[in-house]
Amino acid sequence: MSDRRALLLDEVRKFHQDAQPNQPFIPGVTEIWPSGALLDAEDRVALVEAALDMRIAAGPLARRFESEFARKMHRRKAHLTNSGSSANLLAVSALTSDLLEDRQLRPGDEVVTVAAGFPTTVNPILQNGLVPVFVDIDLGTYNTSVERVAAAIGPKTRAIILAHTLGNPYPAREMAELADAHDLFFVEDNCDAVGSTYDGALTGTFGDLSTVSFYPAHHLTMGEGGCVLTSNLALARIVESLRDWGRDCWCPPGESNTCLKRFKYQLGTLPQGYDHKYIYSHVGYNLKATDLQAALGLTQLAKLDEFTALRRRNWRRLRERLDGVPHLLLPEATPNSEPSWFGFVITVDPAAPFTRSELVAFLEDRRIGTRQLFAGNLTRHPAYLNQHYRVVGELTNSDIVTEQTLWVGVYPALTDEMIDYVGASILDFVAARG
Ligand SMILES: Cc1ncc(COP(=O)(O)O)c(C=O)c1O
Repeated sequence: MSDRRALLLDEVRKFHQDAQPNQPFIPGVTEIWPSGALLDAEDRVALVEAALDMRIAAGPLARRFESEFARKMHRRKAHLTNSGSSANLLAVSALTSDLLEDRQLRPGDEVVTVAAGFPTTVNPILQNGLVPVFVDIDLGTYNTSVERVAAAIGPKTRAIILAHTLGNPYPAREMAELADAHDLFFVEDNCDAVGSTYDGALTGTFGDLSTVSFYPAHHLTMGEGGCVLTSNLALARIVESLRDWGRDCWCPPGESNTCLKRFKYQLGTLPQGYDHKYIYSHVGYNLKATDLQAALGLTQLAKLDEFTALRRRNWRRLRERLDGVPHLLLPEATPNSEPSWFGFVITVDPAAPFTRSELVAFLEDRRIGTRQLFAGNLTRHPAYLNQHYRVVGELTNSDIVTEQTLWVGVYPALTDEMIDYVGASILDFVAARG
């Protein structure tokens, strides 16, 4: 490293110390966010280094991240994207590729999912002309059950896509077995659950494809970003093509002729020898992420195990503080799982002598950030009122979540003091209002 570069990076470390003065926690004054990124001096240095090298597009750092992340997540391939929503779009769109021949999903085919969740788990189904089949969830785990998904499978059902809600795994092994038994594709939206395990294996390793988000609220961050993972090489190739404009060629940006046949193809009705770099086998997108994002992803990835341990610790501490509190349904880990929690979910008993809004207002007044369980029941939102979908069973619990549920944070930057203040505040509120 040149002296000037080393000096600059050293200055960046010093700058980081100055920019992050150790502020004492003042209850009721210091903001306790529900989620956020934990960024250290090495994250800042990584971003500056990438900027010094002018790594402004996808390149070697993106490829290195893909290979390290795939290894960490126990999958053969990872494809970096510009968001978790893009990752979901790619995963579902990949299932419609005609390279899948008789397994290809076609317009009108059905995909089973849950009604209560994040919109961009469901949107790619609609965006591909497929039909979502909504099932309900359980309160407490906020996931659906294998029985509900099994009951929703009909003659047109071709795939299942489910998110592990707020880090809590659903029974992914049993879900994969169900998908196998009915010859369905299974996509795990793992955006909120990186580091969680079910039956001893990482979530994201059970499905044909899994997706991740690197938005700052999530377990690892790149600012914006996402990833599609798979161990199925045919699906990996389709995902890459769809991500990279739909092209047939798989050369990384800036490289040519890795297949040694660049001018030897004849595809479609193109002339013999048409440049493979510009032959398109899918109607694709450009959903790539940049090396600047990947640089941050690499330093964040090194801290994943530490982040996972802190999320678990914070969740456990708050769960212990609140154990036995009346009128509130506390979260439960799915049996046989070890969640890397995204948040701490609470449902106010509909018969409680207070409302969710009152609890939320009380907490927000104490600077304790709250969130709702994303969209609640998606079918009640304006965007979905006129969409074509099927519902199997009642959406009773999805409606309860829409009206009664909130969550507070457990992310790694929260300290014991903060978690204790959140716990004590909830107990104060219930004692005063209960
Ligand atoms: C379950 C789930 N899926 C997908 C996404 C979308 O990720 P992104 O915000 O990176 O597009 C989110 C975002 O929070 C999410 O919670």
